[in-house]
Order: sequence, then C-alpha cells, then structure tokens
Amino acid sequence: MATGVGVVGCGNISTIYLENLQKFAETRVVAVADLDRSRAESKAAQYGVDRVCSTDELLNDPAVEIVLDLTVPKAHYDVAKAALAAGKHVYNEKPLTVGWDEGKEIVALAASKGLRIGCAPDTVLGAGIQTCRELIDDGVIGVPVAAQAFMMCRGHESWHPDPGFYYETGGGPLFDMGPYYLSALVTLLGPVKRVTGSARASFDVRTITSQPHYGQEVRVETPTHLSTVLDFHSGAIGQLTTSFDVVAHTLPCIEVYGSEGSLRVPDPNGFDGPVHLWKRGEGDWTEISVVRPYSANSRGLGVLDMALAEAHGGPHRANGDMALHVLEIMHAAHWASDQGRHVLLETTVKQPDPMPGVRL
Ligand SMILES: NC(=O)c1ccc[n+]([C@@H]2O[C@H](COP(=O)([O-])OP(=O)(O)OC[C@H]3O[C@@H](n4cnc5c(N)ncnc54)[C@H](O)[C@@H]3O)[C@@H](O)[C@H]2O)c1
Repeated sequence: MATGVGVVGCGNISTIYLENLQKFAETRVVAVADLDRSRAESKAAQYGVDRVCSTDELLNDPAVEIVLDLTVPKAHYDVAKAALAAGKHVYNEKPLTVGWDEGKEIVALAASKGLRIGCAPDTVLGAGIQTCRELIDDGVIGVPVAAQAFMMCRGHESWHPDPGFYYETGGGPLFDMGPYYLSALVTLLGPVKRVTGSARASFDVRTITSQPHYGQEVRVETPTHLSTVLDFHSGAIGQLTTSFDVVAHTLPCIEVYGSEGSLRVPDPNGFDGPVHLWKRGEGDWTEISVVRPYSANSRGLGVLDMALAEAHGGPHRANGDMALHVLEIMHAAHWASDQGRHVLLETTVKQPDPMPGVRL
C-alpha cells in the first residue's frame, strides 16, 4: 500500500513534488492545503488529488501519514510543529526552520514522539552527488584533505517577482542556497566540527528590476556575502562562499581535493552530473559517466526514501539530524563573523548511507 502524503503549501516548488510523488508506486498524495485555497484546488485538479482542505483538516486526516511542508521558510516551524503534534511524520522544504532554537525544538519533539523528520534538499541523493560519493568512498581521490565551494550571483531582484524576503533577517545567500552546498559537503565528507568566517552586506539597498515591483528599493537587513570556513571531523578543511554581491565569476560549484586526486562535483541544486576527476600523475580532467539512478529532477526522492524506511525499518537519508546540522552551520557562520571567533558545533550527524545503485 502506498504511503499517504498530505501537502501543505501549493506554490512554485509543489509542482515537481506532486508530479514525482504521484509517479512513484510507493507514495500517493491524498490531500493538499494552502492558505490560498485556489492554489490547492488547481494543483489537486492537475495531479489527481482527491481532497482539498484546510491545514487543520489535513493534519487530522487519518489517510495522511507524512505531511510534506512546502510553505515559505518562516512558516516551516509552525506547520512542522502542528503536524508532529497531530502524530504525523513531517518532511520540510529547506531550511528546516529559520530559527536555531526552533530547529532544535522540532527535532527533539519528533524524537520524543517516535516520528520521523525529513528535510530538503534531496538533490544529494541524485546521480551526480552519489557518483562523487562512490568515488570518494572507493578511495579514488585518496584521503580528502579539503573542499572549496562557491554559490555567487548578483541577487534575485532582477528576476524574482517578490524578492524582498531574500534581504530580510533569515534571508541572505547562505540560508537560501547553503542547504544544497552544505548537505552535499556533509554527504561527501561527513560532519563539521567547527565554523568560522566573515560576512558583510556590501550594499545597504537593492533596487528591484523585475516586475511587478520594478524600481522599488529594498533595505538590506542581512549579510549578502559570506566566506565560511568549515573544519570537518575527518580533518578536511572546507571553504564555502555564498554571495548575492558578485556580478560574474569563473569558479566551480564544489571541488573536493584528496591525496591522490581532485574531484569536480556537479551543481548540488540539481540531480545530474557532470562529474570530473583529475588523478595524481594525469595531466587533465576526465569526465566520469554518471550512470546511477535519479539524474532527472527527482524532488520528492527524499520523501520516498523516508516512506520506504518507515515501511521497512531503518534510517532515511534526508533526515532531521542532517537538516539540523546544516541549520547550525548556517547560524554559526553568522555568529562567527559577528563575534570574531571559531564556533564549535553542538550537533553532529552520521553520514547517511549511500544510495543503492538501482532505483529505490
Ligand atoms: N521555488 C523554488 O524554485 C524552490 C526551490 C527549492 C526549494 N524551495 C523552497 O520551497 C519552499 C516553498 O517555496 P516556493 O517557491 O514554492 O514558495 P511559494 O511562495 O511559491 O509557495 C509557498 C506556498 O505556501 C503557502 N503558505 C504559506 N504559509 C502557509 C501556511 N502557514 N499554511 C499553508 N500554506 C501556506 C503560500 O500560500 C504559497 O502558496 C521554501 O522553503 C523554499 O525555500 C523553493
């Protein structure tokens, strides 16, 4: 019997989740809810969901086993808490929550109730990152010593219809895109021990050049350029730069450097390759074929993995411990810069098992 999923939040990202969760044999979306009921109605009609209801009704629907929370970040805490209180497993879009204390509370509440928490991103379970994980686990680059990662652009006000929230507290490039990069780094290299770095807001005001708010000015309340240093428990040292202040650059998304070679890791915001390897003694990069499953946009794969783990036992991969660890790293990057110090992390996480080489 397929696991019943209830979707709260039927905006932009819900489309790909609904498409995939209705396709997987082991999941079935049984109810959808949104503050704007018309959005839920439209998605239900498009993807054959039987029930459109309020969030409260969805949380009390016995057919809903997993609540998939696709609301905006500032609502993640309230929706997840209410779902857990109603006895449901929860899978949140990223970030787990905005606040650090909120994240800890949600994970502790789930543990106390014997319920599961899952959280995006699940791109790290896709073919591209999993190919890199296999190469590292097989010792192809030797002992990993370092990693560099870059997510830099000139901000989202040129295309996003309502970009103000990116510049509010809880926004910024690290909270926006950091979950992809940090989840990938932890998937590849294991947990982080301590964090330091520097952060700045290079511009006090941003001018929107997209419609419908063309010409409107947005005051910047949060750092928009952060250089973050990550000391992994393994001894490897990582550096992640996230920025909304950079016009153009030539740097890779992620590279991992080992004693016997270097690995160019694909964009962690996608599921596919390319993957490139430069072995010690060779004079160039070689493209490695990405033959593992889930190379297409498979958002919802983490929900499927969680549903299967619940049905058959064992841990799921895109889990609350990973999301909380990533949340702590993102907060620690800001604290470290404010306070001029290294921040030792409270959390750690077991590196999730690699995905099998065949479809789940
Ligand atoms: N859009 C993307 O490309 C993208 C990609 C990856 C991840 N995400 C993440 O997905 C989440 C949603 O993003 P989005 O782009 O779909 O946003 P969106 O604004 O398009 O959709 C969010 C929906 O949630 C509803 N909503 C908000 N608060 C609610 C509440 N308390 N109860 C019920 N419904 C509520 C809104 O009415 C809206 O329809 C965010 O956490 C974002 O970080 C988005």
